[in-house]
Amino acid sequence: MMFQSILLLAFVGYGSAAAIDRRQATSTISQSSHVPDYFDTTLGWFAGPTPTGDAPILAQTNAAPFPGVSYIPNAPLETQVPIIGNSNNNNIFQLLGNLSPYFPNPRGFGVSEYPLPPGSNVSWVNMISRHGSRYPTISSGPQVLGQKIYNATGKFNATGPLSFLNTWKYGLGAEILVPIGKQELFDSGTLHYYQYGHLYTSNGSKIVARTTTQNRMLQSAEYFLAGFFGLGWTQNATLEVTIEQLGYNNTLDGYYKCANANTGVSAGGTNATAVWIGTYLAAATKRMQGMTSGNLNWTVSDTYNAQNLCAYETVSLGFSHWCSLFTYEEWQGFEYSLDLTFAGSFGFQSPTGRAIGIGYVQEVLARMQHHVITSSTAQVNVTLDNNTITFPVDQTLNFDFSHDANIMAILTAFGLTQFNKFLPPTHMVERELIVSYLEPFAGRLDIEVIKTPQPVNSDRSAASPYVSGGPTSYVHFILNQRTIPLGLSFEECGMRDDGWCEMESFLKVMEKQVELANYDYACNGNYAPVPYGNITNGAPL
Ligand SMILES: *[C@@H]1O[C@H](CO)[C@@H](O)[C@H](O)[C@H]1NC(C)=O
Ligand SMILES: *[C@@H]1O[C@H](CO)[C@@H](O)[C@H](O)[C@H]1NC(C)=O
Ligand SMILES: *[C@@H]1O[C@H](CO)[C@@H](O)[C@H](O)[C@H]1NC(C)=O
Ligand SMILES: *[C@@H]1O[C@H](CO)[C@@H](O)[C@H](O)[C@H]1NC(C)=O
Ligand SMILES: *[C@@H]1O[C@H](CO)[C@@H](O)[C@H](O)[C@H]1NC(C)=O
Ligand SMILES: *[C@@H]1O[C@H](CO)[C@@H](O)[C@H](O)[C@H]1NC(C)=O
Ligand SMILES: *[C@@H]1O[C@H](CO)[C@@H](O)[C@H](O)[C@H]1NC(C)=O
Ligand SMILES: *[C@@H]1O[C@H](CO)[C@@H](O)[C@H](O)[C@H]1NC(C)=O
Ligand SMILES: *[C@@H]1O[C@H](CO)[C@@H](O)[C@H](O)[C@H]1NC(C)=O
Ligand SMILES: *[C@@H]1O[C@H](CO)[C@@H](O)[C@H](O)[C@H]1NC(C)=O
Ligand SMILES: *[C@@H]1O[C@H](CO)[C@@H](O)[C@H](O)[C@H]1NC(C)=O
Repeated sequence: MMFQSILLLAFVGYGSAAAIDRRQATSTISQSSHVPDYFDTTLGWFAGPTPTGDAPILAQTNAAPFPGVSYIPNAPLETQVPIIGNSNNNNIFQLLGNLSPYFPNPRGFGVSEYPLPPGSNVSWVNMISRHGSRYPTISSGPQVLGQKIYNATGKFNATGPLSFLNTWKYGLGAEILVPIGKQELFDSGTLHYYQYGHLYTSNGSKIVARTTTQNRMLQSAEYFLAGFFGLGWTQNATLEVTIEQLGYNNTLDGYYKCANANTGVSAGGTNATAVWIGTYLAAATKRMQGMTSGNLNWTVSDTYNAQNLCAYETVSLGFSHWCSLFTYEEWQGFEYSLDLTFAGSFGFQSPTGRAIGIGYVQEVLARMQHHVITSSTAQVNVTLDNNTITFPVDQTLNFDFSHDANIMAILTAFGLTQFNKFLPPTHMVERELIVSYLEPFAGRLDIEVIKTPQPVNSDRSAASPYVSGGPTSYVHFILNQRTIPLGLSFEECGMRDDGWCEMESFLKVMEKQVELANYDYACNGNYAPVPYGNITNGAPL
């Protein structure tokens, strides 16, 4: 349970606070008349906790320039902090798993990117984006360490690199976006306008974009739309705000409808992470203990929380003293700790990995084939999806907003087995599943449909881009601006150089994925937890 609480995923804190939100919202609703509640962005219901934190004063707190490092202005975060063992001048802020501020995956997913052959066009796109950088979950690890230090005030002294702790205090808010989180979504909206602006038919018909009621989710969508359309975006898009709450049907937080996603059977990832933390942070914990005297009993979970604090303070306040306490290898270990969590709780090592994401996959397939959804075997909300006002089926631009865990499960539900490798909790291995490449803050999966006058040669170095045949459609997956090669996971797609998959083949392999999720049993079945590592296909054994 200890390590559960360290996670920043959406599960913590939904209980009584949400019930209160709901009562308040009910009275708000009666005053609001003109639009249905799911199109009203002002209700504030099911928003989750919204405490803000200390205002930054980076001009005062920034320790740069650092000894031996040439001065580079902060942009806006201070990321030049010297790290022991960082021989290649790598950036530890790209080793923070789901706490990494947005960056495009630098190494790709196994294929190169190719331009569209002349005469072809991108005709449709479906984006699912994570919210931006945020404060930690209320009462989670960072706050626990903050409270512990506060409780020990006057009872301990810290020395050496830890001496900042003698005057440090916890000053973070909870749950809501931090400043750079807003920028990340605005930038993503701007980027997406460059990528896809032409697909917007400005003929007076607005597109519907979807997000959830949670404060950071709603704001992420709004900042994105402002980046895409400008401040007048409400003339161009209607935001559909779906209820984020345990028990509701919602594909943007698919774990809330999936009972087993929130119990021990799906805790293999956090259990594996706990094992790994005991190993990779043993030396650091001894170091911390050596730098504190008096009555502060420094434990290995304090060390892990301290790494989390580096990540959160950096995005919240611009700079954190906690970051330079750890070696480069310990930051690699931190990334791995999050990779384990995601693999074991929302990926192919989880019995509910596929089930959590499958409703969203069904929605993408429905949009691609231009039909509504009339019945739900998963977490689809049919009231909304059996209606073209709330589930338009002819939009060329489809924008949705969601959470890290949910998008990980969606990648699993699509059946992207390139991310299915077993990750041992004892040591780090080479792998495709690197959470900072998959789900950094503001991470986004773009699915394109590409139309071509003839089939495109799978050998993209061939002299002629096309082979003989008629007009063809392709599906192209892009995660954080890099192509996911569909042929690596689906034989039917072929080993194309460009990673695309011919659309009919894609739709055919997707039918199988829906069955593989085994939604009802995975989510509602009564089965025992199996040890982390026994499950390899994102569904119960
Ligand atoms: C800090 O002290 C408060 C009040 O005594 C106590 O409730 C809380 O559990 C302590 N927290 C930690 C992390 O030590
Ligand atoms: C901390 O250091 C100060 C000054 O060096 C000393 O007066 C105090 O007793 C120390 N406190 C503890 C708890 O060791
Ligand atoms: C605007 O374009 C959309 C998408 O092509 C179409 O469905 C809609 O009917 C058009 N609306 C008007 C008013 O022309
Ligand atoms: C948004 O809609 C307004 C009003 O129809 C239009 O003037 C504007 O060009 C649209 N914005 C974009 C980016 O197309
Ligand atoms: C479906 O969504 C509507 C609109 O937000 C909501 O009122 C309804 O409770 C949802 N249904 C379920 C089963 O979650
Ligand atoms: C994870 O650990 C908890 C606590 O020990 C246990 O209840 C749960 O069954 C474990 N789950 C798995 C999948 O190992
Ligand atoms: C320090 O913490 C550990 C782990 O929580 C605990 O087992 C131990 O009893 C504590 N020691 C003291 C002196 O409080
Ligand atoms: C879906 O919508 C259609 C058309 O409005 C309606 O006839 C049908 O009963 C609806 N189905 C469900 C399951 O709500
Ligand atoms: C909600 O999902 C369940 C299946 O998980 C389904 O039985 C029910 O009809 C759905 N309700 C709505 C309103 O979509
Ligand atoms: C896109 O490409 C298809 C196939 O080549 C073609 O039929 C269609 O007219 C093109 N659309 C646009 C807007 O260029
Ligand atoms: C897990 O896998 C191990 C090794 O293959 C096997 O011995 C064990 O029976 C499995 N446990 C369950 C619950 O499937």
